[in-house]
Amino acid sequence: MEEKKTVLSCIQPTGDMHFGNYFGAVQNWVHLQDTYDCYYGVVDYHAMTMPYNPKKLRSNTWDLIINLMSAGVDPKNLFIQSMVPEHAELSWIFNCFCSFGQLTRMTQFKDKSSQSNQSSEDGFIAAGLLTYPILQAADILVYRADFVPVGKDQEQHLELSRNIAQRFNNQMGKEYFKLPECLFTETPKVMSPADPTRKMSKSAGEKHAISIFADPDRIRKQIKSAVTDTGESSGEMSPGVANLFSLLKASNEMDSYNSLMEDYKKGSLKYSELKEVVAEALVKVSDPFREKRAKLVANKKDVKYQIKQASIRIRGRAQETLREVKELAGLLNAKM
Ligand code: TRP
Repeated sequence: MEEKKTVLSCIQPTGDMHFGNYFGAVQNWVHLQDTYDCYYGVVDYHAMTMPYNPKKLRSNTWDLIINLMSAGVDPKNLFIQSMVPEHAELSWIFNCFCSFGQLTRMTQFKDKSSQSNQSSEDGFIAAGLLTYPILQAADILVYRADFVPVGKDQEQHLELSRNIAQRFNNQMGKEYFKLPECLFTETPKVMSPADPTRKMSKSAGEKHAISIFADPDRIRKQIKSAVTDTGESSGEMSPGVANLFSLLKASNEMDSYNSLMEDYKKGSLKYSELKEVVAEALVKVSDPFREKRAKLVANKKDVKYQIKQASIRIRGRAQETLREVKELAGLLNAKM
């Protein structure tokens, strides 16, 4: 039997989970579990690059674990990054196989360092913001992953991970690391209901994101007040209407999608009707998530136990990599 290929992806612990996160990434993670050996990390070390609150970090980390499990991620595949300290250890080693220049050219660094500079009083920019992609490379390579499902915004970081792997291999004279590849999957770009020209995200305010755990009535209300037409008619479908159709498609309601699209083309579509159908579709998608979440929240102890067990198992693979890497790199292992 052929061995399953390895998939790895990670997500930062930030607040709630909305339909943009779900349709854009998490749903895909869930599907990949059928085909691949999957490792999914909640990356708390990554969440320290900007000023943060330690208590909040810990509670966000567990919340995200519960949210991922509620949305269908198998807890056996889930780990918390700081429970696998080999990520940080490999990251140091990789610091020595990555050029300073390449780090400064990362677009995410350029964006975030200017943000950080403006938002903190003393203009503090953590060095971790610069070296963050090295930790990301360690996240991937510590499991010797074949595929990394990410959005286009992470392509540059993946390229850097490959460069690090290659430089390490060259210097050690051994093709030790496989070069990881991006796994792009066609996922819908979900826009804000309140401003359909921007991505769904809570950072711009509550009304710009719809939680997958929201009460059905809240979902209905948010869809009901979604922006449709902005007044000007260019002949093309407006971003708001397009977003509603795209949500319907993402919810896999193709019959309604097709018939409402017919109406749209004939010019007889009522937006109120479209909204009703979309709201019910989202409620239906999210029903099992709400149920599952309520159960998990009531059994937090059990959740923590499961994730600690999974992290220990997953750590085994990371430790194996570190032993081999240290051996190759001329470092010492206490236990051989
Ligand atoms: N940098 C990613 C983001 O901002 C998160 C991330 C950290 C990641 N480590 C990773 C993604 C490893 C894929 C693989 O979204």
